[in-house]
Amino acid sequence: MAAYYESAPLGYGWFLLPTESCSITDKAFRDLSEALKIVNIISVQSFKGGTGKSTISANLAVTLAQLGKRVGVVDLDLEGPGLHVIFGVSDSDVKATINDVLQHKAPVSQSVVDLTSKIQLKAGCLIFCPAGHKLDDILSILDTGFNLYTFKRVLEDLARDYNLDYLLIDSHPGIEKDTLLSMALCDYLVLISRVDQQDLFGSGVMTEVASQLRKPVVLILNMVPSSVSEKEAAKIAERLAELFHLHVLTALPFNSDVLENLSKGVFVLEKPKDPLTKRFTEIAMKMLEAIETGSPDDPSTTQSTSQPVA
Ligand SMILES: Nc1ncnc2c1ncn2[C@@H]1O[C@H](COP(=O)(O)OP(=O)(O)OP(=O)(O)O)[C@@H](O)[C@H]1O
Ligand SMILES: [Mg+2]
Repeated sequence: MAAYYESAPLGYGWFLLPTESCSITDKAFRDLSEALKIVNIISVQSFKGGTGKSTISANLAVTLAQLGKRVGVVDLDLEGPGLHVIFGVSDSDVKATINDVLQHKAPVSQSVVDLTSKIQLKAGCLIFCPAGHKLDDILSILDTGFNLYTFKRVLEDLARDYNLDYLLIDSHPGIEKDTLLSMALCDYLVLISRVDQQDLFGSGVMTEVASQLRKPVVLILNMVPSSVSEKEAAKIAERLAELFHLHVLTALPFNSDVLENLSKGVFVLEKPKDPLTKRFTEIAMKMLEAIETGSPDDPSTTQSTSQPVA
């Protein structure tokens, strides 16, 4: 088995990639296909679990689609999938899962659930690739894993076949092989953190990995408790931006409606008039502006910011 792998040239001896069909050089990371050059891949990650990655991925994806973008979402939390619940996708809607695709058991088109009509868009589209939630699916992919090239091909196929502008990848928490692959292939890393010392420490670790992979990072503080004022949250954000050399996009408050929704729907669809929905629109618009116009706020061109949070 050892001969089957070689280390990726990323400074991580333990980041193993198969060498069966291609020789791996770091050129592979830069030499992206046309499809991957056009789509903006956003990987949503956090060091600790339960920070709000899936909630934010779903709400951001819907908001971007409502703004007329062609959006894809992949549930890459293969060990603990949950996005299908938030999107209200049932087993009968799913022909194949992303696990099947990554294991070469099905073409990517079969894993696509088209949510466009569900959210009644005037323009744009929203497609979703669910992960397998059955025990066998989870154990099977844990056993076989998947490699960088397979994952890259899946993203390419999705981007090209559905002419996507944005591809969001919801992730498992922490640093493990899947999250590293996702980080390696993304254009932007959106880190989600609570205002909690464990989370913040972990966000520093994630930022360090991202910086080694030369990926721009934006941080969203989530579930900021009501005891922390907006001013205090802005100060914390400012300190984090300086400390970790990243861009703090916003600080979202703890919202009991989100929690009480029990992940049974997408918040921005269910509460279109809620102030939190407005916040999601602001986040999405900031991202679009930064990515599409390459404005000074573009996280890829600025190393750190002392901007107050929204
Ligand atoms: N701003 C918020 N206010 C209140 N509750 C929130 C907020 N954001 C997310 N939640 C709730 O927190 C819980 C965890 O959210 P979510 O599942 O999105 O986290 P996650 O990071 O994807 O978790 P995991 O690491 O297990 O995948 C859910 O019950 C969700 O409804
Ligand atoms: Mg999740």
